[in-house]
Amino acid sequence: MYIAIAIAIILSFIAAMTTPLPLNRDGLSSLLLLLLLPSLCLTGLTLTEARIWRSVAFENVFREAPVYNNGKGCSPSSTIHVAMTLDENYLRGTMAAVLSILQHSMCPENFEFHFLQTSSSSPRISSCISSTFPYLNFRVYRFDSNRVQGKISRSIRQALDQPLNYARIYLADLIMDSVKRVIYLDSDLVVVDDIAKLWRVDLEGKVLAAPEYCHANFTMYFTDRFWSDQRLARTFEGRRPCYFNTGVMVVDVEKWRHLGMTQRVEEWMAVQKQKRIYLLGSLPPFLLVLAGNIKAVDHRWNQHGLGGDNIEGKCRSLHPGPISLVHWSGKGKPWLRLDSRKPCIVDHLWAPYDLYRSENKHFLEE
Ligand SMILES: *[C@@H]1O[C@H](CO)[C@@H](O)[C@H](O)[C@H]1NC(C)=O
Repeated sequence: MYIAIAIAIILSFIAAMTTPLPLNRDGLSSLLLLLLLPSLCLTGLTLTEARIWRSVAFENVFREAPVYNNGKGCSPSSTIHVAMTLDENYLRGTMAAVLSILQHSMCPENFEFHFLQTSSSSPRISSCISSTFPYLNFRVYRFDSNRVQGKISRSIRQALDQPLNYARIYLADLIMDSVKRVIYLDSDLVVVDDIAKLWRVDLEGKVLAAPEYCHANFTMYFTDRFWSDQRLARTFEGRRPCYFNTGVMVVDVEKWRHLGMTQRVEEWMAVQKQKRIYLLGSLPPFLLVLAGNIKAVDHRWNQHGLGGDNIEGKCRSLHPGPISLVHWSGKGKPWLRLDSRKPCIVDHLWAPYDLYRSENKHFLEE
């Protein structure tokens, strides 16, 4: 602890000498506070100390998560694999999602996280994960965005066209061979139940499990051009296709590889390049390959759409029924709406999992 304080003092001196005036003052006032309040500093990572680190190292923008230990009856060999993407813009969401999973799990030490990150994004993100979750078992995989860049067609929302959005298609190819099953999760959600229940779903020979929505108008997801082309529309022959959201999926990665699913999804993306057969991003090619051929799980595992539609400022309420996972799919994200002081009611469900140190932001603004 004393060594850490000494380093902090030295670093803040360096910061004070090398940064422009506003930070200079902050560094000095933090240092004064540190010297005036030594007792605070001995009780773990205190606010004062955190502020110094904030002004020195910008990675340290998240609070450290508490330690979560296995309950009784957890078998150390039953690992749950969870895959998510890592992206500067959604990092706050990823941190909240991870925290929510650990917090509601009976066996939080049994998780292994697999983070997919584009080659162009900052390597500092992974050190940020380690400092926020020092005990987390995780790996980071580099997703080469060149692999998909030329295959992406413009959708109705720019955010959907980010290469990382397509990384889930390549998940089975990227993840280490020893992983047989994985839960893929978007970064704009929190889990409020033990995700082991979802993990244990019987896939009944299917390659993927997800909540299925058979009342949604499936026609809408594809253009007239698609439906009027007999050869294309025939792809749904012999199955009852229903919408599913690709933000929460249990995937049998072995089967995915074996069936060459990546290539099949890519083939539809190539068709989209030629003829505009759908309007959204990575979802429709998934539907083309898999809709009507997945294992349906309870809707409680994806209360989606809480980001609202593509219309700014539109709040959605929760669907009736039990909830195990809350998902802000759509344009609005809870952290942005909370920061803007115009949150939707559902955003208050996300707030308790936010590890972002907003107190520092205010401190620096003063
Ligand atoms: C579904 O959407 C299509 C096109 O948007 C529309 O023509 C059709 O009437 C809708 N079907 C139902 C059952 O609402």
